[in-house]
Amino acid sequence: MFPNAIFRTIRLPMRIGLALSAGAFALAACQHEPIVGPIVDDNGGNGGGGGGTNPCDPNTVYFQQQVLPLLISNCAIPGCHNTATDDNDWIQITDYQSLMNSGIVQDGDLMDAITETDPNDIMPQPPQAPLTPQQIALIGTWIQQGAQNNSCTSATCDTLNVTYSGTIVPLIQQRCLGCHSGGTPQGGLNFSSWSVVNAVAMDGRLGRSVTHDPVGIPMPPSSPIMPTCEVRKFLLWIEAGAPNN
Ligand code: HEC
Repeated sequence: MFPNAIFRTIRLPMRIGLALSAGAFALAACQHEPIVGPIVDDNGGNGGGGGGTNPCDPNTVYFQQQVLPLLISNCAIPGCHNTATDDNDWIQITDYQSLMNSGIVQDGDLMDAITETDPNDIMPQPPQAPLTPQQIALIGTWIQQGAQNNSCTSATCDTLNVTYSGTIVPLIQQRCLGCHSGGTPQGGLNFSSWSVVNAVAMDGRLGRSVTHDPVGIPMPPSSPIMPTCEVRKFLLWIEAGAPNN
């Protein structure tokens, strides 16, 4: 307890320093380099950065496919860690670079915060639901495996049996529920219940959001479009009438 408290007090200025120097670097880099557009998913549908054609190994946890979607959904909520500010200890969690710049993987704060039991310290903060034990274990394994910015491509996209419970619910749990659940869900949309997901599917907003249609609001926000395979599954389910199957 006590040494940890000292650690916390000396660490904060270091963090700010880090964030500032990262910012300065980004500014400097801007002057010399062309503006790079958003990452385009062109590797068969499992990209989103870190790319390549590395086949998925079931014993490895991949940052781009498994960890980042969870972090975006649960931490990058507007007003939380979507940008680095004084209020959030300069911790931005929207991609690998911002996460590592914050230092919270390296110093153990990320695991501490998501496994905390004190409601004042736990992340995400109530009324948002805590991460599930499975989600915590996944992040823990990724850190144990070296906290790499790794990415993989699965050989196939199984679109034969797309159902709400078997396909859409797991996708929503991974990528949307952090923002779209709890007492004050983003956009007033709580996707824990099928009827709400069905309603935005049938009025066209879900399809526009997941395809990043310029007419709609891109989802998940402030991140690249989901892998092609996942977008296709959403669209197949919508086309089938967004059933509760
Ligand atoms: C980081 C937080 C966050 C995540 C993650 C997120 N959303 Fe949203 N979502 C929002 C916010 C904020 C709004 C309200 C946007 C607005 O009205 O400007 C919204 C609105 C929406 C809307 C309504 C759009 C419209 O045209 O009115 C849909 C549909 C939606 N989200 C779907 C999703 C889906 C599907 C996912 C997961 C694949 C997802 N969202 C993940 C924050 C999030």
